[in-house]
Amino acid sequence: MPAMKPRAIAVVGGAGIVAREFLRALDERGAPVARLRLLATSRSAGTRVPFRGGEITVEETSPDSFAGDDEIVFLSASGEASRRYAPIARDRGAFVIDDSSAFRMDPAVPLVVPEVNAEALEGHRGIVSQPNCTTTPMVMALFPIHRANPLRRVVVSTYQAVAGAGAAAVAGLRAETAAALAGRREPSGTQAREIAFNAVPQVDAFEADGATREELKMANETRKILNAPDVAVSATCVRVPVLFGHAMAVWAEFERPVHPDEARAAMAAMPGVRVVDEPAAGRYPTPLDAAGNDDVLVGRVRADASRPGGIAFWAVTDSIRKGAATNVIQIIEEAERRGLVDRNRARA
Ligand SMILES: NC(=O)c1ccc[n+]([C@@H]2O[C@H](COP(=O)([O-])OP(=O)(O)OC[C@H]3O[C@@H](n4cnc5c(N)ncnc54)[C@H](OP(=O)(O)O)[C@@H]3O)[C@@H](O)[C@H]2O)c1
Repeated sequence: MPAMKPRAIAVVGGAGIVAREFLRALDERGAPVARLRLLATSRSAGTRVPFRGGEITVEETSPDSFAGDDEIVFLSASGEASRRYAPIARDRGAFVIDDSSAFRMDPAVPLVVPEVNAEALEGHRGIVSQPNCTTTPMVMALFPIHRANPLRRVVVSTYQAVAGAGAAAVAGLRAETAAALAGRREPSGTQAREIAFNAVPQVDAFEADGATREELKMANETRKILNAPDVAVSATCVRVPVLFGHAMAVWAEFERPVHPDEARAAMAAMPGVRVVDEPAAGRYPTPLDAAGNDDVLVGRVRADASRPGGIAFWAVTDSIRKGAATNVIQIIEEAERRGLVDRNRARA
């Protein structure tokens, strides 16, 4: 595995759930770090976050936060914060990786899942985006088939954990559940509806056509990452009362018919995908199996009974690991392997 170099790194959104997982993943991978700064809002400024036997004090973010000495800036706060700070950090010489949807569909910004389209990194102009946490596992599972037999159509229904909506949403589910078990209904306001013991078919805001932005992200980002602009995608994104681990049911159709055995073998050979598919033994992956792990777990691979030659499957992944923190570290590793971080400093 290509290693990271010791770099000066700043994380905007540094007190968030993704940032904390990013620190944990840096540690697990033994990644060297020259200096690490955590930036957030005034709400978290002054909070101390443990890292490698010491503590990092969270600072408030401002345009002056980026003085030109950060080599890598990871923005993991909000679309608004990314639109504000990414250009500043880039113009001051940082290699910027953005976790929000702000730049994902910008043709000048690569949208990267390293196992799928690492080469797209070469076209970066200082900012790289990483996909939505539901798009990443879906393209990881579809890519090994798509590269030999182009994807034509995909229908997906998600079962998304509250961790995908940040630290407050995790606290919200815990509080709602405790209240409900005590016989009270106390909506936390962290989802569009009460989430404890419920399922909410709204993730992000609605568009005029009745789809949600999350559903559009899955469609548009899948087309961009797979470089397949004509793929038809229909997504229904649902929040469920699960803490960690996004799940999805996928129905996919390719140019030529695909046998489930062929699909299973292709997925099993894909780095970062683990097939757990022994229905006779009751073996298939669940969100609890994915939580805390980096792999995309795939099971229930079978023929799509509604489309001859199509396949259906089930996939789960931890949205804050491969859906966010791990993918970012892999982007940095891949950029280092290609000399892009040093080249970026030279450009600035
Ligand atoms: N959770 C996931 O599974 C996941 C997956 C992929 C992508 N993402 C994306 O990653 C980003 C962070 O998500 P999260 O789940 O870590 O959220 P979170 O737990 O709610 O944390 C958000 C962090 O961003 C900070 N922040 C918010 N607005 C800011 C601003 N204007 N300037 C500076 N800092 C600001 C917050 O500061 P305070 O602490 O001061 O409030 C907090 O530290 C979002 O863009 C999200 O869409 C999340």
